[in-house]
Order: sequence, then structure tokens, then C-alpha cells
Amino acid sequence: MKSQHLILALSALALVACDSSTTEEPAEVFVPQSEPAKTVEVLHWWTSGGEAEALEVLKSDVESKGFVWQDMPIAGGGGDAAMTVLRSRITSGNAPTAAQMLGFDIRDWAKIDGAVGDLTPTALKEDWDNVVPVALQEFSKYNEKWVAAPVNVHSTNWIWINKEALDATGGKVPTTWNELVKVLDGMKEDNIIPLAHGGQAWQDATIFDAVVLSLGKDFYKASMIDLNPEALGGPKMVEAFRRMSVLRSYVDDDFSGRDWNLASAMVIEGKAGMQMMGDWAKAEFLNAGKQPGQDFVCIRFPGTEGSVTFNSDQFVTFDIRESDKDAQQALGSSVMNRSFQSSFNVIKGSVPARIDVSDSDFDDCGKKGIKDLSEANSSGTLYGSMAHGHAAPAPVKNAVYDVVTSHFNGKYNDAEATQALVTAIAAAK
Ligand code: BGC
Repeated sequence: MKSQHLILALSALALVACDSSTTEEPAEVFVPQSEPAKTVEVLHWWTSGGEAEALEVLKSDVESKGFVWQDMPIAGGGGDAAMTVLRSRITSGNAPTAAQMLGFDIRDWAKIDGAVGDLTPTALKEDWDNVVPVALQEFSKYNEKWVAAPVNVHSTNWIWINKEALDATGGKVPTTWNELVKVLDGMKEDNIIPLAHGGQAWQDATIFDAVVLSLGKDFYKASMIDLNPEALGGPKMVEAFRRMSVLRSYVDDDFSGRDWNLASAMVIEGKAGMQMMGDWAKAEFLNAGKQPGQDFVCIRFPGTEGSVTFNSDQFVTFDIRESDKDAQQALGSSVMNRSFQSSFNVIKGSVPARIDVSDSDFDDCGKKGIKDLSEANSSGTLYGSMAHGHAAPAPVKNAVYDVVTSHFNGKYNDAEATQALVTAIAAAK
């Protein structure tokens, strides 16, 4: 049934989607010797302390239904390494039961006839159409079929600040770019690293999401969503790169290649003042026993209040083995369960992917995340994150990664980076 045609199509996709910014070899293909009938093998990139704790909630839920959880973790924030392994698993006809996936990657796999599983039977039974925000359904559904179950909504325009370090600079939460720079300067004077950052393309791009949004919601939409060449190549983009250069000056010398959770740890321990990162960073603070408001402060990147750049982790199943089908429907049902969505997201740092989950169990950052999402959704200021695959398909995302990272590492000045962005996106579109 799985024809040569499908394998060829999958190989072609693997080439197209291949991340030009990474040189990693695909991991070795995993070949199970014998497979227990009720095993759920889940491929994901949740390997940090906070992520693993959240994953445990899902694992327990699935196991309570009588399935055996087979973990397939692929380290690497943002998921590029995980997607490389997934492609090699699928193209060799050995797909896992399900995999964590983001935005346009879901659509790319769904387009290939016979590649992904169909969660529609469970979705109809549980009325997902009426509880999942429409912005997520854009990615969860393809040709009217539910091809993915969204487990959360994260967003990238956040800053996580060590409270003591902020207090030492006077305690004023920055609400404008100039105030932010003032706080960073204050932290430098206090002899701590102002900005904890890991020099990896996806992390540089995560800050870029927020910096572009801080120059105006219309500018974010025109440049990152509509890929309008004038917005991409105009004076505001030069200013975005100038701001990136300013932020670069507050990063320590050892930033290159550092994992995002190690950067979070620097803020948690007070070695650094702040981190600009999606709200999965909150899970690291909570996992270290830190409390929002008391030990750390969460703010929207100055100038972005009222808008949200979101990404949603979804689970996609694969249409490979008939014996996987029950487990796949059960996993979909677990992921979409209302009380599960609360307990999972309380730990993960994200907010629920359903509109009918109470915020009562969430801390103040979580409550703000839920409120911001719902307000952005109703006021039309909810935008897909470019860094996390929700603004444009992989080739364009990778073009942005390449330029933003090259600039952050001194290869281009601000004007050159702007030009390079226009050229790279035009070639990738
Ligand atoms: C995912 C998060 C994850 C983060 C860091 C993001 O792309 O959406 O769930 O925690 O990457 O790995």
C-alpha cells in the first residue's frame, strides 16, 4: 500500500525541508526488533528539565489508558534536529506512532498523500472544532481532516528577568526600548551578564521575532507573514538589525552554541540579568523552585504589549501501521483532554490550546499568557512566530535563520543584513 511513489515524495520533501543552517548528520535510523501491540512511540525534543517534567504528565495520561510509552527524545531546542531524525524515520518506512511538530512543517507532511494519520474520528467525537482556536486549526487541519492535536500555545515575545537583578537597577520594569537598554546598562554596571543567550540560529531568530514585532505589529505582519519585499528591505528592518546589534553587545563571550536552558539557568542563578525567550523558559524557573513575581519577572518585550507571536506544539500521527491506529486516537484524545491541558500547560509554561480551560491553576505569568492570547486573537494581533515555524514554510524560516545568525555573529552590518534578508527570502519563496 505504501508505494514507491510515497517514499520518493517523502525523500523529495526531506530535501526541500532540510535546514540549510545545520550541518548535523541525520541520526541513525531506529529499527525496533519486535513491537508490543500497544506501544506508543513518541518523537519529541522536550529534553530540558522543565520540558521533561511536562512530558511526564502526558506520558502518565497515556499509560493510564493501558498503552506503553516508548520515548524517542531528540535533544535540540526549537526542534530542527528532531525534524531531521523524523524525516529519516519516515523516509525509511519506520515512522514513530506520533511526533511533536510545529506549524508549516505539519502542513508540509499533510500535503503528501498517505503520510500522516487521521485524527478526525476522535476530533468529531470530542468536538475539537468548537474548542480549538481557529489560528491553531489552520495548522491542525488539512483538507477538512484533523491531522494534528495541539497540546499548547507558546509565544516568543517574552523576557524573563531575575527579580533581584532588576531591583538592583532600580526595579522599574522596562516598557520601552530605551528603558530596556537602561536596565541592561544597569546590569552591566552591577557586574553581571546583562543578557543570557545561547548562540544557536533558532535562539537568535527567537529574539528577532520580538525585535521585529517591537517596531510595530503592521511591520511584523508585512515583513514576517506577508514577506513583503518593501517591508523586508526598508528602514524599519535596518532598525531591527540595529537593535539586534545593540542586544548582541550585552551577551557574554561564551554564548556561542550554548543551549537555551543553560541560558535560563544563568538568569535563575543570578549570573545574568535576563533572557529573551519563549515561555518554555518559565518551566526552567519553576523546575528550579522559583516563583514569578518573587524570584523572576515575566514581561512582554517592550513595544510588543497587545500583540503575540505564537507557536503551538502539535502531535502528528503517521499513517504507517494499522496496529498503531488505536494508540494514535488515544494519544489525540489525551492531548486534547480539558483537565490534561491545564495540568500540562501549568508546568510547560505555555497556555492551553482550547478556549474552554480555566486559568485558575495558572500562575500570574500563565494568567497573563492566557489573557494576552485571547485578546490578541480577538483584536487581530495574533501572529505566527517566524522563528518557530508558524509564519512561513521551512525554506523561508531557514533563510531568516541564516541571515539573522550571520548578522549576530558579525558577518553583516545592519544595512547588509537587511539586503541579505530580501535576497535570501526571495530565493526561498
Ligand atoms: C517548542 C517548545 C520547546 C522549545 C525549546 C519550541 O519550538 O515549541 O515546546 O520547549 O522549542 O525546545
